[in-house]
Amino acid sequence: MRNLIAATVAILLLGTRLSAQDWTVPDDRKGRLSTFAFDDNTRTTGERLYTANCKSCHGTPGMDNWLRLVPPPGDPAAEKFQQNSDGEMFYKIVTGRGQMPSFRTVLSANEIWALISYLRSYNTGYVQQVMQLITSSAYPGAEIRISLAWNSADSTVDISATAVKENSSVAVTNAEMQLMVQRRFGHLALDEPRNTDSRGFVRFRLPADLPGDTAGNVLLMARFTDEETFGSAGKDTVIRAGMPVNAASLVAPRAMWNTARKAPVWIILTYLGGVFVAWGFIMLVLLKLRDIYIIGENSSVNKQ
Ligand code: HEC
Repeated sequence: MRNLIAATVAILLLGTRLSAQDWTVPDDRKGRLSTFAFDDNTRTTGERLYTANCKSCHGTPGMDNWLRLVPPPGDPAAEKFQQNSDGEMFYKIVTGRGQMPSFRTVLSANEIWALISYLRSYNTGYVQQVMQLITSSAYPGAEIRISLAWNSADSTVDISATAVKENSSVAVTNAEMQLMVQRRFGHLALDEPRNTDSRGFVRFRLPADLPGDTAGNVLLMARFTDEETFGSAGKDTVIRAGMPVNAASLVAPRAMWNTARKAPVWIILTYLGGVFVAWGFIMLVLLKLRDIYIIGENSSVNKQ
């Protein structure tokens, strides 16, 4: 019995140990970089954001006074924390895990970078790499061109993004893109958001059974997820990648809302049944009254 308890405890400990270690970040997110250089301003903003959002769990950096949670939040000044690349930190802050909340809807991309700039001030060996391309500051006035190629053979869509200014053009690298398809109500995201590679390319896979219009056409929309940097730059393209669908008109079939002409058969039958039963009952009562009257007539005749 004691062995069993010891084994269980060991497995539990091992389990938390393991899960505390493998917080793996997808390869295409690791290299993500800030679009602006870290300076005293960003660090001050970061410190304010850290105090408001992170300090309760992660403590004062360098003081090792973080909240004792499992897995541990850890001290941001510690090596384990600082080992994360900028992209990894960004990803972990955005997505969260377990007790670490997701800040996707709480902080903007620029605020998260400001936070990271503050956290990096506890790492003396840190040298920042700034995203070189297509930041509004690096390429003021550059036009972002997105092209989209559909490979019907393997149901993939290749998107390439370049920034063009006057005669020069450069690939937009490491920028997260999202592919969406237009539906009757709003947009539906296809596939996970992905980052462009070093040539500015990103590939999305389309589901085989994507419903299109009567000709199988779908409207695909490629967008950058980081609107602060790229604005609403995007590309809408109609391609014949879906299955042809003859969408039924809402008034064509028999349905509850087609009360006048095409109500469902069961509603008509139930209604008519109700009408017949009610009128039948009234008729029955009238017939019985007539019987009573006749009986009354007869008995008064007999008396005389
Ligand atoms: C409610 C408590 C809590 C708050 C608030 C919180 N964290 Fe965390 N954080 C955690 C925990 C717990 C972990 C460990 C998660 C794991 O490993 O599964 C963690 C892990 C992390 C990691 C990964 C560390 C590593 O070693 O890889 C980063 C980066 C991080 N937090 C940043 C932040 C930032 C920045 C904020 C504020 C915007 C924040 N956290 C707010 C609890 C918190």
